[in-house]
Parts: sequence; structure tokens; C-alpha cells
Amino acid sequence: MQALTVERGSGRPTLRELPRPEPGPGEALVRTLRVGVDATDADVLAGAHGRFPEDEEYMILGHEAVGVVESAPADSELAAGQPVVPTVRRRAGAGEDGALDMAAPEDCLERGIAGAHGFMAEYFTSPVETLVPVPRAVAPAAFLVEPVSVVEKALSVATASRSAVDWSLDSAFVLGAGSLGLVGLAALADRGVDPLYCLDRRERPDPAVDIVERLGATYVDGRETPVTAFAERHDPVDLLVEATGHAPHAVEAVSALAPGGVAALLGLPDSDRQEVDLGRLHRDLVMYNRALVGSVNAGVRHYRRAVETLVAFPAWLRDRLAADVFAVTDYEAAFDARADGGQGRPLKTAVEFDTL
Ligand code: BGC
Ligand code: ZN
Repeated sequence: MQALTVERGSGRPTLRELPRPEPGPGEALVRTLRVGVDATDADVLAGAHGRFPEDEEYMILGHEAVGVVESAPADSELAAGQPVVPTVRRRAGAGEDGALDMAAPEDCLERGIAGAHGFMAEYFTSPVETLVPVPRAVAPAAFLVEPVSVVEKALSVATASRSAVDWSLDSAFVLGAGSLGLVGLAALADRGVDPLYCLDRRERPDPAVDIVERLGATYVDGRETPVTAFAERHDPVDLLVEATGHAPHAVEAVSALAPGGVAALLGLPDSDRQEVDLGRLHRDLVMYNRALVGSVNAGVRHYRRAVETLVAFPAWLRDRLAADVFAVTDYEAAFDARADGGQGRPLKTAVEFDTL
């Protein structure tokens, strides 16, 4: 079968021929349909994030997959032909019990990212309990379930952090109109959150800004209105979602929150040293009862909710985010064209291995 891999030290994706994997006990064999590409893949290729599977010279790329069950153990609820999305994290070694999405990164594997092969191959195997069914009608866009699951987990963690007090999610501000920011914004719009704001640094006309506005949100140009100026020009919000990985946002976010508000950090920053008034940050958190939460990855329940959210998205949004899908032979374009930030460039790309 054909697989897209990265070799140690190469920095580029490579197409290779590999044997089709054999499912082990409790595993299903899945025929891959599409696999999305995101900023984490770029970091994995650059060697800036994740790690290779032990004793392997290469790793199969990709963690945002949708496929179709080819075969499953007789006692499983999955039938052949069922479209499914696999979760990303797996136990490292014997591992501990408990929620894998809450494990420390050094204590787990992430398929296509950290120590385990990913899904960018014509077939992959996965334990049946890691495969979440998706309706056929949304299967072509279901490589978006993984990023939506990351948003679902963040929303549940942020909401839970406010459960002890009188708080409701009426307004929200998303930092970043990349693919993660946009699915986050759409998930909030679907929950009826209004007003909604989304910050980026894009010149109109821009397809991401169009989506922000079509979702009924207000586009905030960060070059004119930095996060620290947000609360002077708009009402401070109940929830802020950081989806850029720009390190100063972790501190700046607090200033955009209403009293009792919560900021959820999802982006992964590089090292960034700056002078910060820590006293002010600390005081603002305490005196206004604000919270900052970090959130990574997602568990099966978040994937199930993400499937519902994807189904609830307006069809035009699913179509738009699944518009730039490349054939396996065109894989370089899928990685090169991906630029959650580039003017006039695709919003989201994916590689197609097969069709339903
Ligand atoms: C993936 C998550 C993963 C995280 C850290 C994200 O791009 O979507 O599943 O946990 O990167 O590696
Ligand atoms: Zn990702």
C-alpha cells in the first residue's frame, strides 16, 4: 500500500510502498478515505514536535483521519463499510488507567505525531474502542472531526472550570482564523453564543474572514485592535479560545475577559521570552475571578460530540473546509499549500487515499 512518511532528518514527506497492516486482537482494519494536514504536521516534519516510533527510521504521517471499516472482530459493534474516525492517543507500554487525553505527553503515544505511526496510508489498524462512527453523509469532511474534538474538549474543560459559580457562556472571542479557530468559532455559533469575535491579521478580501462573517461573528483585525485593546472597543467576553500558539496571547487573553471569564489555550507556542507585568496578570486573575485553562487532545466522548457538531455545521462550511483535497500523488501540494494564515491560500488541506 502507499503511505506518506517522514524519515529521520529529512524534513519532507515521502511516498513509500509498505505492506498492508494486519489487525491484531481487538483491532479493526480501516481503509483510509482522507487525512487532514495541520500546523502540528509541519512541526513534526520540521522535527520541532513529537518523536519517531522507537527503532524506526520513518514514521507514517497524519493524525486527522476518516476511513471505512474493512474488517472488525466479530464481537465488535463496527460493521464493514462503516465510516469511522480514529482517536490520536494510545497508551505507551503497559500504561496507567485513566483518561489518555489527560496523560502527560511523555506518558502516551500520538499516532502520526509522537512515537506511533499515523494514518496517511491506504490502510491502518486501530483498536475498535478508538474508532468513532460517523454518518456517511459527512464522511468526506470527517477528517475535521479530530480538530473539532480538540475544541469540544476545550469547551468542556473551560465550562467545567466555571461550574462552581454563576456563569453562562453568552459571548466568546476566538484568537486565530486558521482551521482550528474557524471550527472553534463554528462550534460556538452552533451553541448560540452571541456576540462572537474572531481575531486574525488578514487583509480583506480573505476566505477566512468571509467565513468568520458568514458565521455571524465580528472580525477583529489584530493589527488595528490587539488583544490588549479588545475590551476598550468591545464588551469583554465570557470565554476566550486561543488557537494561534502566539505565546503573548496567554497573558493578553486575560484582559479580554469579563469578570469570572475563562480563557482556554489550545495553540502550541515556541519558546518566547518577553518582559511581562506578572503582578498585573496575577492581580487581574484574582480580583476578577478569571481562569486560564490549557487543553490538548481529546477523548472518545469529545469525538462523539464532535461528530454531532460537524453534522450541525452549515453544509457550506463543511464544503468550504473540505474543498482543498489532494490526490496521494499530489501530496507535496497538500503540505505546501497548507498555510493557516497565508493570504488567498487554502484554509485547510487533506490528502485523499480513497473514496466511499
Ligand atoms: C493534535 C492533538 C495532539 C496535539 C499535540 C494536535 O495537533 O490535534 O491530537 O494531542 O497536536 O501533539
Ligand atoms: Zn492536530
